[in-house]
Amino acid sequence: MARVETSPSRPYHLIIFGATGFTGQFVVEEVARTVSEGPKGNLKWAVAGRSRQKLEKVLEQAAGALSKPELRTQVDIIVADVGEPDSLAAMCKRAVIVLNCVGPYRFHGESVVRACVENGAHHIDISGEPQFLESMQLNYNSQAAEKGVYIIGSCGFDSIPADMGVLYTRDQFKGTLTAVESFLTVSSGPDGGCIHDGTWQSAIYGLADRHKLSSLRRKFNHKPLPTVGPKLKRRGALFFSKEIQQYALPFMGSDPAVVRRTQRFLSEEHQDTPVQYGAYAGIGGIGNVIKLMFAGMMFWFLVKFSFGRNLLTKYPEFFSYGFFTKAGPTRKQMEASSFQISFHGEGYTEDQDPSKGKPNAKIRTLVQGPECGYVATPIAMVQAALTVLNEPSALPKKGGVYTPGAAFAKSTFIDRLNKHGIQKAQPLNFLSDEDCLIQRISLGYDHAGGCCWFGNIKRVQTTLYSAWQRYTGSVVA
Ligand SMILES: NC(=O)c1ccc[n+]([C@@H]2O[C@H](COP(=O)([O-])OP(=O)(O)OC[C@H]3O[C@@H](n4cnc5c(N)ncnc54)[C@H](OP(=O)(O)O)[C@@H]3O)[C@@H](O)[C@H]2O)c1
Repeated sequence: MARVETSPSRPYHLIIFGATGFTGQFVVEEVARTVSEGPKGNLKWAVAGRSRQKLEKVLEQAAGALSKPELRTQVDIIVADVGEPDSLAAMCKRAVIVLNCVGPYRFHGESVVRACVENGAHHIDISGEPQFLESMQLNYNSQAAEKGVYIIGSCGFDSIPADMGVLYTRDQFKGTLTAVESFLTVSSGPDGGCIHDGTWQSAIYGLADRHKLSSLRRKFNHKPLPTVGPKLKRRGALFFSKEIQQYALPFMGSDPAVVRRTQRFLSEEHQDTPVQYGAYAGIGGIGNVIKLMFAGMMFWFLVKFSFGRNLLTKYPEFFSYGFFTKAGPTRKQMEASSFQISFHGEGYTEDQDPSKGKPNAKIRTLVQGPECGYVATPIAMVQAALTVLNEPSALPKKGGVYTPGAAFAKSTFIDRLNKHGIQKAQPLNFLSDEDCLIQRISLGYDHAGGCCWFGNIKRVQTTLYSAWQRYTGSVVA
């Protein structure tokens, strides 16, 4: 079982490393909001980074934003630099869990993971970089297992909603779920929205290095995962999605890779039926398609050359039509933004043999929540840490390098996310079709673009449920 107790020499449950970053500052606020959810109602935490002055400023800002003046004086500051291994070791010796917000992870991540493994601290990151995530699994899984340390990657918007969403869909399905496609839509308020430069940089170098991923994967020497039911067909590079009534393309982030690793773990460790997965993102109407094609071609071309990467790094606003900026979104933009991912699954009912014939049942679920990068991500990251601290016996038996789904499949992580609303933003909600019907009835909820404001909603009665099945034409197992 994971070690989760603090001690005089390891006084903090959590240390937020990279607290001065654009994302780190919101993780600090999220931790400050959730101290009562720590073990015995008291979370002990500190902030870390390479500049004491900047860290003091972050605490001051959080104290103002949350009206908690005590944050200025009561939160300890640790100075640590990725380039100074001794400072990393000293930090990791003092934490039960390091929440690592220092990216791009391909440049800064490995030394932090190594220091955590060597010094007995669990590590949670928000990387969306498959190459980093999978090379950590290849290089540190056995050492982490020996040390009883849990290294849990991709605990932000990449890839908690997708990974946990597939597991949620599977658990709602009464039978054997064999395939899921998900469709992401993002909406923003009148002031629009954007993503901070840190993620843009991770994307630039991730894409430039993508050819290394296949050789890395060959080193695992994995057997192919068994395909149960018909093979899931991949959609085209661009298509009009009936599911979300807009143009869509394959999701470029780490979600498919993370979900695949989770499904492999659950199949190999627990003999679960692996679920095939395809992830897509809505991009809107034809105007956006043209813009995106143009920006995409430019990005694809420039990323191949070092001068191109320099240009992309220097002028994110220009090359992304303002979608990525050096300033990041304002709080007002963040408050008005939200995301929704609908999961469309198929499989076999309990009385049907999955090795014979076509799937005979479908299911649809939704995950929806607040702004992806700096509201949903801190919630997901902090709730992941709280799950480790509060439910160590629900984690896999041995330490190791895990995806969120592999680490949290047996825990109450989804309930924690559902319960966790923040201020004016809506909580991360996992909803089945049944739940959506309740919302539709009680709120005039619009399936295509509406927002849910409630976390846990009671199951609908069978009659209403059947009506919903007739209405959607879906047969829900
Ligand atoms: N999964 C998701 O959905 C999601 C969402 C948001 C962000 N992210 C990822 O999170 C990462 C951070 O993004 P961001 O936008 O917050 O970037 P950022 O604002 O540039 O923050 C980078 C952080 O790393 C620190 N840092 C850089 N070099 C360091 C070193 N040598 N030693 C110690 N600290 C160092 C910076 O410290 P200084 O302040 O001292 O420079 C800063 O705190 C990126 O990889 C991004 O892709 C993921």
